Amino acid sequence: MNELDALVDSARAGFAQATTPADLENTKAQYLGKAGRITELMKGMAALPVDEKKTRGAAINLAKQAIEVALTERRQALADAELEIQLKAEALDVTLPGRQRGQGGLHPVSLTLERIEAIFGSMGFEVAEGPEIESDWFNFTALNTPEDHPARSMHDTFYVEGGSEKVPNLLRTHTSPMQIRHAVQHVKRHRVALDAGQPMPEIRVIAPGRTYRVDSDATHSPMFHQCEGLWVGENVSFKDLKFVFTDFCRTFFESNDLVLRFRPSFFPFTEPSAEIDIQFQSGPLAGRWLEVAGSGQVHPNVVRNMGLDPEKYIGFAFGMGPDRLTMLRYGVNDLRLFFDGDVRFLSQFR
Ligand code: DAH
Repeated sequence: MNELDALVDSARAGFAQATTPADLENTKAQYLGKAGRITELMKGMAALPVDEKKTRGAAINLAKQAIEVALTERRQALADAELEIQLKAEALDVTLPGRQRGQGGLHPVSLTLERIEAIFGSMGFEVAEGPEIESDWFNFTALNTPEDHPARSMHDTFYVEGGSEKVPNLLRTHTSPMQIRHAVQHVKRHRVALDAGQPMPEIRVIAPGRTYRVDSDATHSPMFHQCEGLWVGENVSFKDLKFVFTDFCRTFFESNDLVLRFRPSFFPFTEPSAEIDIQFQSGPLAGRWLEVAGSGQVHPNVVRNMGLDPEKYIGFAFGMGPDRLTMLRYGVNDLRLFFDGDVRFLSQFR
């Protein structure tokens, strides 16, 4: 092998060893650079006689071209390899299933509230909403629970500063203040008729909403829901309460043989008062008495605070727990699941 062929071979081998473009350019300089081997050979020709110069020059040029071809090929190969790596890194797997947007749904307690509103709506009850930050007057005093009444301590709540009896100063402990708020509005609306001695349309309302107490375990949450009910007229009795509430429970639980028990109890704002228990005749809870509401005949002092004459107007009220109704309906045993916001739990109610 002549010296020039050997040079071309060694250039090829050098290029092949270069693994990056920078390596390759360095190797190139050894052959084609200003101080490279080809340049040196060119310089060496100066001493040759004219006719030898021609053949020698042509041979060196061929060698130079061969080296340049090898260089270009190697450059292309390195560029291709780099592109290949980049393409692999940026590869999209078009066969992966797409990320779907989860379908939303109503919260189980919202479903219950909707259900309660629909059932009582069908019995002619309006739906009223009121403030969660309530005054002492509406939450306690107007409901026949004066300041030193022991029943207040059962409703340990969150007070805010700067309130007074009539200025909001606590998070309501129940939805019962809505009895007063709604009745007062109702009486105002019918003032003219009342003053003219005409009959007042009956008050028939439910008031669902959030309530608060200092309480927290598997069956109590500091924030929970209640739904108040109130029916006041000239001739509304405990019998009506029994009928209405029985009808409601049987419809709500879709169970016609559901049995109700009105167990004597005490609430300052009702007299007489009863705790309402239900009993399923079949299913996992069959045979057990389950408390679902407090209730009673509206106390005369409360009727008076509504702006009505207790000698003429009478009625009943109840307060139930939609969270508990939801637990019973769906067989949920920890109340806290409702407020954790865990989609795995919530998506079961879609
Ligand atoms: N407010 C009561 C409570 O939270 C529940 C209640 C009992 C409401 C009797 C009523 C009622 O309207 O008549 O414990």
